[in-house]
Amino acid sequence: MTNSVKIAPSILSADFADLGAEIRRVDEAGADYIHVDVMDGHFVPNITIGPGVVKAIRPHTEKPLDVHLMIAPCDPFLEDFAKAGSDIITVHAEAGPHLHRSLQTIRALGKKAGVSLNPGTPDDVLDHVMDLVDLVLVMTVNPGFGGQGYIPLEGKISSIREKIKQTGRDIDLEVDGGINPDTAKKVIAAGANVLVAGTATFTGGPDKYAENIRAIRGQ
Ligand code: DX5
Ligand code: ZN
Repeated sequence: MTNSVKIAPSILSADFADLGAEIRRVDEAGADYIHVDVMDGHFVPNITIGPGVVKAIRPHTEKPLDVHLMIAPCDPFLEDFAKAGSDIITVHAEAGPHLHRSLQTIRALGKKAGVSLNPGTPDDVLDHVMDLVDLVLVMTVNPGFGGQGYIPLEGKISSIREKIKQTGRDIDLEVDGGINPDTAKKVIAAGANVLVAGTATFTGGPDKYAENIRAIRGQ
C-alpha cells in the first residue's frame, strides 16, 4: 500500500510571491498531485485564490492540479476552474443542495470529479453519487486554514474505503488536514491513498521539500 500512496502538497503553505517556482520545486521534490485550496470567505472563514491563479500556475507543472473548492455556491465557477487547467475539481457536499448536479457538471467539462466531506459530515452523503465520483476527500481539520491539528477520523476513512471497494472502480481516497509523517501512517492504514500536506511539505524551506515528501510517504 505504501508505495502506491500519492502526496499532494497544498500550495496554501507555499510562498505566494514565488508560486511558479514553488510549484516547480515540489514537483521536482516528488509531488504526485498539486493541491490547490480555493476559499471564498463565506463557506470557510478565509479567502485565498481563484481561477486566475490556477491558470497562472498551470504552465509550471505537468502533474495533475487537484483543485479543492471551499466555496458556496460552487456551480457558477466550475467552468472557469475547468478552463483554467484543473485536472480534478473537488466540491464540498455541504456547499449546496445540488451535489449530484455539481458532479455531473464537472464530468461534463471533461474533468475528474471529487467530493469533500467536513469532519462532522456523515459518509452516507456519498451513497447516491458514487458512480459520478473519481475522488473522495476526507477533511481531518475544519477547512479554512493550514497548520491545524489532525482530527482522528480513521473509522470514517475505513468506511469510505469499503464503499469504494464495493464500486470496483479506482476512486482516490484523499485525506486533508494535519497530515505529517505520524498521522500519515494512521490514515494510510485506514485506507487513504492520497495525502494532502501543506505545513509538512513546506516546513524548513526548499532544501527540505524532497526529504519532507519522502517522510510523509513513509520512506
Ligand atoms: C484546509 C485546506 C488544507 C490545508 C492543509 O482548509 O484544505 O489543504 O492547506 O494544511 P496542513 O497540511 O498544514 O494541515
Ligand atoms: Zn485542501
